[in-house]
Amino acid sequence: MKPGMSLMKHYLQFKDLRAEEYAYLFERTAVIKKRFKNYEKYQPLVDRTLAMIFEKASTRTRVSFEAGMYQMGGSVVHLTTGDSQLGRAEPIEDSARVISRMVDIVMIRTFEQTKLERFAAHSRVPVINGLTNEYHPCQILADIFTFIEQRGSIQGKTVAWVGDGNNMANTWLQAADILGFTLHVSTPSGYELDPKVAGVADPACLKSFKSPIAACEGAHLVTTDVWTSMGYEAENEVRMKAFADWCVDARMMAAAQSDALFMHCLPAHRGEEVEAEVIDGPQSVVWDEAENRMHVQKALMEYLLLGRIG
Ligand code: CP
Ligand code: NVA
Repeated sequence: MKPGMSLMKHYLQFKDLRAEEYAYLFERTAVIKKRFKNYEKYQPLVDRTLAMIFEKASTRTRVSFEAGMYQMGGSVVHLTTGDSQLGRAEPIEDSARVISRMVDIVMIRTFEQTKLERFAAHSRVPVINGLTNEYHPCQILADIFTFIEQRGSIQGKTVAWVGDGNNMANTWLQAADILGFTLHVSTPSGYELDPKVAGVADPACLKSFKSPIAACEGAHLVTTDVWTSMGYEAENEVRMKAFADWCVDARMMAAAQSDALFMHCLPAHRGEEVEAEVIDGPQSVVWDEAENRMHVQKALMEYLLLGRIG
């Protein structure tokens, strides 16, 4: 941490920031995105270095953090389990102590949330969750920014989650609790969302449905994710059968508001969790959603490193 920054913040789960900090971040994201679109140089992070640690595969998270950091004038170090001592059982605490003496901010994609927390507890610099088994806060940050861009405030709206009660679903629930919208969830039996994982204060923001169509009724946004998340590949065959009725299709979209959006964090499997006509159809905003990962994360890194601008 550079002089001048007294209170170090990590971003390990969505509930690490308050509603008014999100309002600020969404405003900054819009400014930063506009500058990028206009080819206006904005380099507040010259001489700052981001370390990205990937213990699972990635396309969007890597490209968005790496491109975003370079655009802001900084540099990036990319580490994976296989090409670092993390893969040879160096304790995560020691890795944190060492890496955080040489860089200014760290992004980690890993398995258990506790591993990320152990890293953060021994880090001298801010740590960002780039996906764990339990949460994916940067993705929901991008999803909500995308919703706001398209439809205005998400407060009071209804988001329908169809599919696995996974890291994305847990994070949507935290966001509903903090930002004041309702989350309709439909999962196959045995794959339910556990509100204890999200640790929500207001259980009224969650409504569970057996039928995915019922969950989509009246929704302003319908969203889903892969049936088998990274780390759960051994369950794939069983999941394929269990999730067969949780494929987002035209009937589900028709049950939602007529101007409902469709989102998917990607990568997607057409014909499994979503039909091609939905993800490639007019209500889908998945490409804006993917691009917005970069813009929101630039605003997030700016906030964690420099605090509020202006
Ligand atoms: N949505 C998302 O996090 O994509 P990647 O796995 O490609 O990073
Ligand atoms: N739930 C998915 C999200 C991938 C971006 C996973 O964890 O694999």
